[in-house]
Amino acid sequence: MSASPPNRRPLIAGNWKMYKTGAEAAAYIEQLKLLLPSNLEADVALAPSFTALESALMAAGDSPILIAAQNVFWEDEGAYTGEVSVPMLNGLGVEWVIIGHSERRQYFGETDETVNRRVIAALAGGLNPIVCIGETLEQREANQTFQVLTAQLKEGLAEVDNRAAQSLTIAYEPIWAIGTGRTATTEIAQEAHRVIRDELERIFNKELANYIRILYGGSVKPENAAALLAQPDIDGALVGGASLKPDVFYGIINF
Ligand code: PGA
Repeated sequence: MSASPPNRRPLIAGNWKMYKTGAEAAAYIEQLKLLLPSNLEADVALAPSFTALESALMAAGDSPILIAAQNVFWEDEGAYTGEVSVPMLNGLGVEWVIIGHSERRQYFGETDETVNRRVIAALAGGLNPIVCIGETLEQREANQTFQVLTAQLKEGLAEVDNRAAQSLTIAYEPIWAIGTGRTATTEIAQEAHRVIRDELERIFNKELANYIRILYGGSVKPENAAALLAQPDIDGALVGGASLKPDVFYGIINF
């Protein structure tokens, strides 16, 4: 399977975006459970909408399927119509959360600063954040990719201490590869993951940089998962479109 060191067991996470009701989430998870072998060699997570979290958790039960929220707000409570807080996720039993997805950045005004506030709050509340970063096509063509990634990490992870950093996962998702069918080549992805790991070493230390998992996202499918996951610094995948059907998603889990 993966070339990652043992402490970086692959994590395959499905981001359902704005798809699936609670009933649909439960039916999917029941099907996925039947497909998963008892000697699963990867960690598996699914991120349903807030409205489907509870039924997803119930369906996952004591199976190895981890359930993640797609976002979280930084205040515990208050007059913030439409927001969901860390204690609310804690109350449900959700332990994982995606933060800073490029769609949040593109359509909902997310910035590195708001990503940072969410990350700090999530870590303080014992959640495991999957922090998404990635460059646009324009930035890649202008040779700004590495600069963009290091700035997103530096600002997004500001004030995170080394102990809390153990709960972090990073997802590298080049925006030009999301939902476009255009995957980064293994070389492009590995190169970016190496840059990210080097920056994690500068921000934290070498041990943590080698410990934190870095997922690749952007048009991951059963056909390209193995080659991507064979790269030394790619420790898993964040999967959108190909996570919506259990058999297709299982094709990635079973890379
Ligand atoms: P995609 O989405 O797999 O459909 O490209 C990935 C993501 O947005 O996390």
